[in-house]
Amino acid sequence: MTQSVKFAISELSESNAHMNAILHEMFGGVIGINLRNEIFLINPIAEKILNLSYNDVQNKVYSSIELPSLILQSIDEVKEKQHETKHRITLGNDLHLIVQNAPIRKLSGELIGYVVVLFDITEKTKLSQLQREFFTNVSHEIRTPLTSIQGFVETLSNYEMLSTENVQSIVEIMDKETIRLNGLINKMLEIANLEKEPETLKLEPVNLLNSVNTVFSSYTHNAENKNIKYSMSTIDPSINVLLNQSRFETVLSNLISNAIKYTKPTGTVHVKWNTNNGYGVLSVSDSGIGISSKDQEKVYQRFFRCDPSRNYNIPGYGLGLHISKTLCDTMNLTLDLESEIDVGSTFSIQNIAIVDTPLK
Ligand SMILES: Nc1ncnc2c1ncn2[C@@H]1O[C@H](COP(=O)(O)OP(=O)(O)OP(=O)(O)O)[C@@H](O)[C@H]1O
Ligand SMILES: [Mg+2]
Repeated sequence: MTQSVKFAISELSESNAHMNAILHEMFGGVIGINLRNEIFLINPIAEKILNLSYNDVQNKVYSSIELPSLILQSIDEVKEKQHETKHRITLGNDLHLIVQNAPIRKLSGELIGYVVVLFDITEKTKLSQLQREFFTNVSHEIRTPLTSIQGFVETLSNYEMLSTENVQSIVEIMDKETIRLNGLINKMLEIANLEKEPETLKLEPVNLLNSVNTVFSSYTHNAENKNIKYSMSTIDPSINVLLNQSRFETVLSNLISNAIKYTKPTGTVHVKWNTNNGYGVLSVSDSGIGISSKDQEKVYQRFFRCDPSRNYNIPGYGLGLHISKTLCDTMNLTLDLESEIDVGSTFSIQNIAIVDTPLK
């Protein structure tokens, strides 16, 4: 190590006793290179990002180390230009970094080396990608019914050329599309509320039978209309559980609604309560179209809908399960899925805490 670099290091550590601690705790990765092109410093974050250890790189010439070529190029660039450089790079498939390099100079202006600072922006990049996809999906979902309503308004403007039956069927379709738009907007608002609410939520003792019954009975009519055998296992009226009642009922409602929607007429839907290791499990089983194992991983993603050809044109936005999963997370509940194509699906809400003391 040259005298000047030694001086630079001791100057760094002596004149600022906290420098090491700062480098350790720094948000970004830092690599220091001296004028002999040797690495004299690498902090733990840079070690982690680049999968290197200080012992492997200490005092080694940077170009002899297995650094990604984009980082090597950025070091060559700062050396050539002698002023700060900044690049956004992607390593492999999904490590997104900002690489910011600068010459290090003494107060006198004398050059003593270069510093490379790495910021891992992978999470941020993925989030903005998700947001972009989300807005594209929302715009698409809104545009489809709007375009159809617009078309019908034009047709209706020539109403004198239409029969009463035509007018009536157009108005019915417009009504359906408006309900669809309204439903989408309500779901979007639900998601927006979920995202702004604090992660921790107050859970309260809730009477299980009352709560399950409220949701179960609101779907009797839908099940009857589709000629589906709809049943519920016996639940002891004295069982109380620790939940947020309205969130739990939203989840159960989404699961029952799906079970009825994705089951063909004469199929069955059954709601069942049982316990496992002292915790409650509420499951909704159907004999419906089922979900392939490939799609089972994706059903909780926003706007995900299984293959439309298998969905038999059943309307939906692909938001119900995303909302349900997020609601379960806020109550420390697990949402589990077992399904087989053309046999059926069972969604179960697991980990429900049972309250021992009776409700006041
Ligand atoms: N019980 C089920 N049986 C078969 N497929 C299901 C079942 N539940 C969900 N799915 C599949 O998972 C997808 C996502 O479900 P999710 O409830 O999130 O959305 P959706 O029902 O399409 O619309 P909505 O936002 O109105 O609930 C559905 O489109 C469907 O393909
Ligand atoms: Mg649904």
